Amino acid sequence: MSTTAAPVFSVQGLWKVFGPKADRVPEDPELTGLEPAELRTRTGCTAAVRDVSFDVRKGEVFVVMGLSGSGKSTLVRCLTRLIEPTAGTIAIDGEDVRAMDRARLRELRRHRAAMVFQHFGLLPHRTVLDNVAYGLEIQGVRKTERRERAASVVAKVGLEGMEKRRPSQLSGGQRQRVGLARALAVDPEVLLFDEPFSALDPLIRRDMQDEVVRLHREEGRTMVFITHDLSEALKLGDRIALMRDGRVVQLGTPEEIVGSPADDYVREFVRDVPREQVMTVRTAMKPGGCGAADHPDALTPDAVVADAIRTVARNGRPACVVENGRCLGVVDHERLLGVVAGTEQLREAA
Ligand SMILES: Nc1ncnc2c1ncn2[C@@H]1O[C@H](COP(=O)(O)OP(=O)(O)O)[C@@H](O)[C@H]1O
Ligand SMILES: [Mg+2]
Repeated sequence: MSTTAAPVFSVQGLWKVFGPKADRVPEDPELTGLEPAELRTRTGCTAAVRDVSFDVRKGEVFVVMGLSGSGKSTLVRCLTRLIEPTAGTIAIDGEDVRAMDRARLRELRRHRAAMVFQHFGLLPHRTVLDNVAYGLEIQGVRKTERRERAASVVAKVGLEGMEKRRPSQLSGGQRQRVGLARALAVDPEVLLFDEPFSALDPLIRRDMQDEVVRLHREEGRTMVFITHDLSEALKLGDRIALMRDGRVVQLGTPEEIVGSPADDYVREFVRDVPREQVMTVRTAMKPGGCGAADHPDALTPDAVVADAIRTVARNGRPACVVENGRCLGVVDHERLLGVVAGTEQLREAA
């Protein structure tokens, strides 16, 4: 993942207010300062997204997480103007989304930013293959080509052999794979997921999460993934925007959110996270090289603390953290257990 490339989406000061004379709300400092309930009684308006800014970097999985009603769906729908923003700017690859005309918007939604929904929206009378090819059909791709492309995507999401089935002959997990394949078939620059796995059984859900991780690893496709599930967010996200009442209360890597919560709300949210599964040895290590020429049993900086605990316990001695042949620091059992307990100073001076 590159962090220097230009962002795919760039969002600045985004507002979405539902209700009468919604436009006045973002402009009026007296109204923007109100709590959601008070804004509602005073004006009849709901501010679903409140002054939100972020970039989605090329190749990352950007997760938007928050409880039900926190504004996640509204936010992601604003990105392609399925919902019209009230204020703020949105750019995709530098192009102003709010200035797009209808044709350009259609092109944006069909080719550049494909959406995968919770309710798969499959066409019941069509086969799996034809459902997957549907997006290509809308694009005007010729029949033989779209069937070829659809077949290869069907295989990619693990549905080989099921091409001729109808949606009613599939399990929930398989249907979601069809939905995913349909979005992938148009080869979009960015995939937008709105809680696609929330309705699935836990085991199937885990399969689908693994599928997303695999697709991301293999293709490096940019994804915006919405979920209310913290463990899903931590598993999938390169970075997570945590929403509360329409605002982003913290934006950071899973490790930053778990290790350095921005406020009490976030701290409470992540309280039960198994820290050893999220925190890395880069954070846990005592910085500074060990001086040795070679490093048996070296850990990579991105190894999680749980793995490091196993290594240190097995060897009965501290382990070096090595990147490109260079020792960055050392972890011992005290530092590792300190991270688990949440007592380790996170940003100790090197
Ligand atoms: N069309 C609408 N009209 C009025 N209020 C809406 C509309 N859509 C969503 N809301 C309100 O906006 C807030 C955020 O909703 P939503 O974006 O669906 O949250 P989430 O996806 O996080 O559950 C909620 O208070 C919801 O009731
Ligand atoms: Mg939602």
